[in-house]
Amino acid sequence: MDFSLQDVTRKFQELYQTEPLVVRSPGRINLIGEHTDYNDGFVMPAAIDRETVFAISPSSDNVSVIYSLKYDETFTVNLQDPQPVKAPKWANYLLGVLRQFVDKGFAVKPFRCVFGGNIPMGAGLSSSASVECGFAFALDRLNGHNLPKNDLILMAQWSEHHFVGVKCGIMDQFASMMGAEDQVIVLDCRSLEYHYSPLALKDYTLVLCDTKVKHSLVDSEYNTRRAECERGVAILQQHYPAVKSLRDVTEDMVRAHAAELTGKVFDRCLYVVQEIARVQEASQDLEKHNLTAFGRKMYETHDGLSRLYEVSCRELDFLVEQARATDVVAGARMMGGGFGGCTINLIRNEAVDSFVATTKEAYHKTFGIDMEAYIVHVKEGTGVAH
Ligand code: GLA
Repeated sequence: MDFSLQDVTRKFQELYQTEPLVVRSPGRINLIGEHTDYNDGFVMPAAIDRETVFAISPSSDNVSVIYSLKYDETFTVNLQDPQPVKAPKWANYLLGVLRQFVDKGFAVKPFRCVFGGNIPMGAGLSSSASVECGFAFALDRLNGHNLPKNDLILMAQWSEHHFVGVKCGIMDQFASMMGAEDQVIVLDCRSLEYHYSPLALKDYTLVLCDTKVKHSLVDSEYNTRRAECERGVAILQQHYPAVKSLRDVTEDMVRAHAAELTGKVFDRCLYVVQEIARVQEASQDLEKHNLTAFGRKMYETHDGLSRLYEVSCRELDFLVEQARATDVVAGARMMGGGFGGCTINLIRNEAVDSFVATTKEAYHKTFGIDMEAYIVHVKEGTGVAH
């Protein structure tokens, strides 16, 4: 169920009869650069018009509580010593953020908080990063610390690593926090240097096609991919001591040592180094407003993710093939971690409705599942709602 900013604020007022600080924190898309962030590469994400909203205020009775509208559940927080909990799972995203405030010595006064939003879960739109970033920002502002957003991004990522258990890269938290209206973020995940690139879509619309599946392996496979990349780096380091991550590796280097990169490690490394190079070219395409060239790279990325990195699935491959079979979709690919969630498509404006209708029908015929389509707009990142 979806909750709007008004729903969250109204619930807060109903429970506490006072005016809260309201913070909104968006989900994200990623145009290109998948599984490159934890390899020190480049990504091109953007924040979208779907968000998690937090209403928060100091508590008057020394007890800190968080109420989730989605789960209709209240959780009482131990402010002194936040630890991960078995249930409810949703609390861990927030507790990890709180742990960071405690560990870094930033005082948090007792609070009451209500949150909810409209980012579909499990669709690869980083609802979890939006929750972590929104809560980090809300706690920070409520307690008057005014930390730089970069610090809050790292605190949010820490929560995902240590309280949720996914060793994610920096992309999702960065995009949620730093997004700008109609701009794509071109982020160097090694230095965290970034710039905005205007997203001039003109004849095209960004459409997400949601497979509505989330294969259960997603988190463990994600951590396995990371380990495979690290294995590749360890092997290549023996020949090239300057190599710190796959960012420092070229395709030639990977090919030259193919025999040593055993098992799946060769394919994984090949994909990552190709993708890191591809994002740099794609960012030029975007600057030149060449969406046709950009779109071709999206298809290439999909092929790499599906065949070499093996994080796609039948449902995602099917949707990309549907797109490829027409001439109205400049580019399409699976987006995010993989094993389900959405494809991202650049579709000619006049063809959006017909493409969505035919694809829905074909998808239902093949999988018996109702695909959902979301038209997304690029918006600003985490901030106070006005
Ligand atoms: C997930 C992770 C990100 C990134 C993508 C794949 O969304 O949270 O850090 O690695 O997968 O690009």
